[in-house]
Amino acid sequence: MDSAPRHPFLKGLSKHRGAPPTVVVIFGASGDLTARKLIPAIYNLACDNLLPADFFLIGYGRTSVPDEEFRKIASDAITQFSRRPFQAEIWQRVGERTHYQAGGYDELEAFNQLRQRIETIEKSVGQDVQALFYISTPPTVFRPILENLGAAGLAARHLGTEKASKVIIEKPFGRDLASAQELNRVIGGVFQEKQVFRIDHYLGKETVQDLLVQRFANTIFEPIWNRNYVDCVQITVAEDLGVGTRGGYYETSGAMRDMIQNHTMQLLALTAMEPPVSLDPEAVRDEKVKVLKAIRPLDLHPIEGDTVRAQYAEGLVAGKPVPGYTQEKGVSPESATETYAALRLNIANWRWDGVPFYLRSGKRMARRVSEIAIQFKRPPGNLFSESEMINLTSNTLAFQIQPDEGSTVSLNAKIPGLETRIQPVKMHFRYKTTFGSNTPEAYERLVLDAMIGDGTLFIRGDETEASWKLITPVHESWAALGARGMEGYAAGSWGPLAADRLLWKDRHQWRRP
Ligand code: BG6
Repeated sequence: MDSAPRHPFLKGLSKHRGAPPTVVVIFGASGDLTARKLIPAIYNLACDNLLPADFFLIGYGRTSVPDEEFRKIASDAITQFSRRPFQAEIWQRVGERTHYQAGGYDELEAFNQLRQRIETIEKSVGQDVQALFYISTPPTVFRPILENLGAAGLAARHLGTEKASKVIIEKPFGRDLASAQELNRVIGGVFQEKQVFRIDHYLGKETVQDLLVQRFANTIFEPIWNRNYVDCVQITVAEDLGVGTRGGYYETSGAMRDMIQNHTMQLLALTAMEPPVSLDPEAVRDEKVKVLKAIRPLDLHPIEGDTVRAQYAEGLVAGKPVPGYTQEKGVSPESATETYAALRLNIANWRWDGVPFYLRSGKRMARRVSEIAIQFKRPPGNLFSESEMINLTSNTLAFQIQPDEGSTVSLNAKIPGLETRIQPVKMHFRYKTTFGSNTPEAYERLVLDAMIGDGTLFIRGDETEASWKLITPVHESWAALGARGMEGYAAGSWGPLAADRLLWKDRHQWRRP
C-alpha cells in the first residue's frame, strides 16, 4: 500500500490507492441517493481498481431485505445509473461481499448486530477493517443513528489508527444555526472531528477542484484577484428541472436551504478565500471559514435589501409547457417556499471590501448551468471611441462548473477591417476537448477521500455554522413575512425581475450564461 502522504490536489486519482481494508455501511440503503449515486460510485471505483482488496458493503435499512435481493438491487442501480456500463466480472467481487442488515435507526440491538457482522468480516480476512458509515437518511434520524453508533461501540473502533471509524453525513446539515450547532454537538459526543465527513457533493465536482488549481497554480490571476480589479462576482447555480417527485422534501427546504446555504456558499468560499498555507485539509478549511466569517450581515429589508426569493409559475421549458410550483405533487397550493433565491453579499476584508458577490440559484430556470464569473473593472476611458457614451465591455473570467465544463475569458478585440471597431471575444478552455469526457462523478471522489481519511473536500463543523449564521436571519425574516414579498417567475425564464433590480442598484446586471 502507498503510505506516502497524499492529497487530492497534489496527486491525481490514479495515485489514490491507499484506502485500508474497509466496510462501507450505508444507512438509508433503499433511498434514491444510494441507487443513483452511492452504489454507482462504488462500482466506478471498482472499475478504476481504487477499492481496497478487502472491501465490503453493508446496506442498512428498516425493511428486511435478503442479501441476494440487495445484491440484485445494487447491480440494477449500476445498470441504470452508472456512467460506465455494468460489467458483471468487475462487480462480482464486491457483489459477493455485499450484505444487508435490517434494523430500526433507534434500535440499539440492531447496531450491536451490525458490530458483530463487522467483527465477523474482520475474522474472515484476518485483520482489522475500517468501518465507514454513510448516513444517507432523512435528517430526522441522524441523531439516533449517531447515538447508536456510539452506544454500540461502532464509532470508537480502532481509534488512533488509519482504520478508525469514519462517518459521512449527507445534507441537510441542520435547518438553521441552532439545529446545525445541536447536530455538531451530537456528532462531537460520539466522533472526533477528524472522523467526520460532512458532504457537499459540489466539492467533489472536477471543475470545483479545478478552481483551486486555476487560482493557485497560475501566477496571472492572483495579482488581479481583489478589490482593485474585480468589479463583482456572480455565482449561478441554475436548474431547468422542477421539484419532480421531491415536492414533499422541497416544501421543508426551499432554494436557500437546498442550494444556497451549502453549494453556492462553498463556491463562494473557494473563490474568495486567501491562499492556504498548505493543502492540508485544516489549512484549506481554515481559510474557507475565515472568509465566510468576514461576510457582512445581510440587509433584510424585503424590497431594498440584499435578498430576493421567488417561486416558479407555469411556463415553457425547452418548448414544453410545465406546471407552476404550487401545482407540483406534494406541494401546498398556498406554499410560501421559494424555488429561487438571490443574495448580494459583501466580504469585509482587505481583499474584497466593496466588491459585491451575487449568488443565485433556482429550479425551472432557462437552462441548467452552474458557473462562477469574475467580472473585472472596465478599462479607464476609451481610447478607441470619440464618444464618451461608448464604454468598453469589461473582461470576465468564468468557470463553467456544469454542464459544459471549462473556463472562458472574455476580452475586447479588434474586428478585422480598415476601421477600428471593437468587439468582445471569448477564449475557451473546455474539459471535453482537452481531456476527453471520462470525468469521475463527484461521489466517486468523495467516497474515496473519506475511505482514505482526507477531509479537504468535506465541510468542517465551524464552516457549516458560519454559513448558517449568515443565512438563518434571512429565513427568520422570510418566515415572518410569509407569502408577502414572494416574487414569481415563469418556468423557463432567468428568474424574477426583483433579482435584476438587486443588481441594477449597483449598476450591474446578471450574466446570461
Ligand atoms: C442537491 C439538491 O443537493 O443538488 C437538489 O438537493 C439539486 O435539489 C442537486 O437538484 C443539484 O446537483 P447537481 O449535481 O445536479 O448540480
